[in-house]
Formats: sequence, structure tokens, C-alpha cells
Amino acid sequence: LENHQNNTALEKELASKEAVKYIKSGMIVGLGTGSSAYFAIQQIAALVENGMQIKAVATSEHTANLASELGIPLMDFKEVRSIDVTIDGADEFTADLQMIKGGGGALFREKIVASLTKQEIIIADSTKLVEQLGAFTLPVEVVPLALNHVIDKIEALDGKPVLRKKSGAPFITDNGNYIIDVDFGLIANPHALAFNLNNIEGLLVHGLFLDLASIVIMGNSNGVEVFKR
Ligand code: 5RP
Repeated sequence: LENHQNNTALEKELASKEAVKYIKSGMIVGLGTGSSAYFAIQQIAALVENGMQIKAVATSEHTANLASELGIPLMDFKEVRSIDVTIDGADEFTADLQMIKGGGGALFREKIVASLTKQEIIIADSTKLVEQLGAFTLPVEVVPLALNHVIDKIEALDGKPVLRKKSGAPFITDNGNYIIDVDFGLIANPHALAFNLNNIEGLLVHGLFLDLASIVIMGNSNGVEVFKR
């Protein structure tokens, strides 16, 4: 197990080194959340340290704290209308660039940032590549008042929802909401499922990130493999 974790960390780092090559001075840069994005943020901090002029947008409070500790200048999220390049991770991706995200619970800001981004670069280790999405349970952010309503609607779509917990209490997102992790089995038609989920009142956002990635850079034992649209 330890060896496996070392390998995936190495793959994430390789992918992040490749990804930061897309960042140029003057750009607005989206910073992802998670252990893969962590490597990219370290690389970006080194670029800033060496004089590169960028402004960054953080996809979570955790990432915002990390970026400011490392001296990366941050924009106020509310002011952002367009982002040049974002580097973020994924929980699963397919070779045609569809993804599940939200394992870290940051999916709401990650999806807004991805939607505003011209070039969304996903970095991943080789365990994230799948034939079909859905082995990883789908994270869904829910406004707490609507929890039971949303659970009923998700069960009507044949999903098995589990409220995410942290030290025994419900996990609370940066936006003050709950996460439910939903087992839909393998997802045959992600666009149809996304459409149905988008119609549930009280469901703020789900972790299907469809047609949002421009490129996935995956680390593997030989170096990196790039998946493009
Ligand atoms: C957080 C995310 C992450 O990108 C995803 O969970 C992957 O994390 P990691 O890079 O640690 O494997 O979507 O909401």
C-alpha cells in the first residue's frame, strides 16, 4: 500500500509539472483543491517566487489559505468573470474527458471556476482513469433544509445516498451545506443523469463535470499521458 501511495504521489507531481507549463505571466489562474492540486500550487508558488505575475482564484478555503501562505496573490472570488487557466484534480475521468469531482467537497466553487475557465487542465494519477464513470460515489452538495427532499428524489433516480460525515457530525462545505455521496452504479448516460440532478430543488451542485475539461494530464510509470478533446 505504501508503495502504491508513493507512486500515485509521484504521478501527481509529474502531471503538475507538465500542467504549470501552460501558465504565462499576466494570466488569471484557477487553483484546484485536493492532493493533486497541492503539487500544482507548490509549482505555481515557485513561478511567482521567480517573478511571474499572475492573479489566482481559489476553489476552496483550504486552497486559499495554502496559496496565501505560499505568497500567491489571490483575487476576490466574487470579482472573477473569466479565468485563463485552471489546474485541478479529479476523482475519476474517462478518455473523452468526462469526470467525477468533489471527493474533497469543494465541487461548488470548482464547478464555477471550471465554467469560467478558458483552459481547464486536470491533473491525475493513473488510478483515476476509468472506462465508465460511477465506481467512485457521486458527491452532491445539498442545502441542509432540503436534505430529506433531495434524498427522496435521488432514491427515485435509483441512487443510494449516504450523508458525508466528519468525526461523527455531518461534513459541512465551505458554503455551509451538506454533501451526500451517491452510489448510482456505473453511469451509462452521464448527461441524462446530470440533467435529472439539475432539476432537483435544494440540490446545489453535483460532481458530474461534463464537457468542462480541456485537457487531462495523467502521470504514469513512464512519465505523463495527455488526453485532449
Ligand atoms: C475536490 C476534488 C478533487 O479534485 C478530487 O477529490 C481529487 O482529489 P485528489 O487530487 O486528492 O485525489 O474534486 O473537491
